[in-house]
Amino acid sequence: MSSNKNKTVLVAGGAGYIGSHTTVELINAGYDVVIADNLSNADISAVKGVEQIVGRSVPFIQVDCCDIDALRREVFGKYSFASVIHFAAYKAVGESVSEPLKYFRNNLQSLLNVLTLMKEFDVPNIVFSSSATVYGQPEVLPATEATPRQRANSPYGLTKQMSEDIIQDTVAAVPFFKAIALRYFNPIGAHPSALIGELPKGVPANLVPFITQTAAGIRKELSIFGDDYGTPDGSCLRDYIDVVDLARAHVAAVGRMVENQSAERYEIFNIGIGRPVSVLELVKLFEEVNGVPVPHKIVARRPGDVEKIWAATDKANEVLGWHAERELGDTLRAAWAWEKHVRGL
Ligand code: UFG
Repeated sequence: MSSNKNKTVLVAGGAGYIGSHTTVELINAGYDVVIADNLSNADISAVKGVEQIVGRSVPFIQVDCCDIDALRREVFGKYSFASVIHFAAYKAVGESVSEPLKYFRNNLQSLLNVLTLMKEFDVPNIVFSSSATVYGQPEVLPATEATPRQRANSPYGLTKQMSEDIIQDTVAAVPFFKAIALRYFNPIGAHPSALIGELPKGVPANLVPFITQTAAGIRKELSIFGDDYGTPDGSCLRDYIDVVDLARAHVAAVGRMVENQSAERYEIFNIGIGRPVSVLELVKLFEEVNGVPVPHKIVARRPGDVEKIWAATDKANEVLGWHAERELGDTLRAAWAWEKHVRGL
């Protein structure tokens, strides 16, 4: 199958939460996208939602990135890519503690396969989904890209650190490779169309899906994990970034590499709004902007949580040319609109 080499992006994990939103923004920016996803933690309805938003069909290949032969045969052998965006990974922090080998095997093997095939098929650029988890609890805030990484406190976080290192060393060894690692802070929200959003399987582990499911009456009440932290209201501080803004950061990263603007062949950018928001503030804002109550109670701290983290976004703003644009209230409106869409409310 032929495709326009300079415009085609492989989105591995493109049926997932961030991958689906990124696919929309790539297509809006004029790229062609091929989605590869094994649907292990995603639903084909996300691809349909993407197609509805962009008004055209998007090539989708159901393949496991850990299966290098299938990935070679079905994906790299059939299309020519300008860039890969690698989202295909497990992401449940708690599960990674109880099943570390599952996380190491999946998250590292899929990356190794993608890099191997990029080299084999002369695909020069990769954007990698990294995470603020690589910083642990920084001593100085906000966290800049130069803030020292600390040993991650979960196998999930370790796979992000290891993946960054694998990419850095591979780029050093393969002269035509360029890579950008985006360290996401806390991605939340949904597409304003309410046609795609976050669809966690089972009981949500993350705050905003738990809030929306509680507002929808699926969960009785939200547990707030700790109000005795050394923060203004005692609850944890995070940097909540709208998923559409985050998606646009990937478009900027691809553009930077494709247009040969990278200052170095391996670059890292924090992607957040650069402002701390407490758990209690977020719940209150959600209730205010949506006019719906979120019953909640304070419970014990959750093991492994950092007290506070937010991003320095200067490098992303000035070097990548990307800025967060969406207001937090609008992001929480979109999250609620999506939950209502999913539940038929
Ligand atoms: N929280 C609650 N109740 C809940 C869920 C979360 O009070 O039911 C609190 C947490 O204690 C934390 C905040 O809401 O203070 C945000 O928690 P999330 O689980 O939504 O997000 P985390 O900051 O723990 O995790 C995010 C990403 C991970 C990443 C991690 C590390 O989801 O992928 O950041 O920075 F590893």
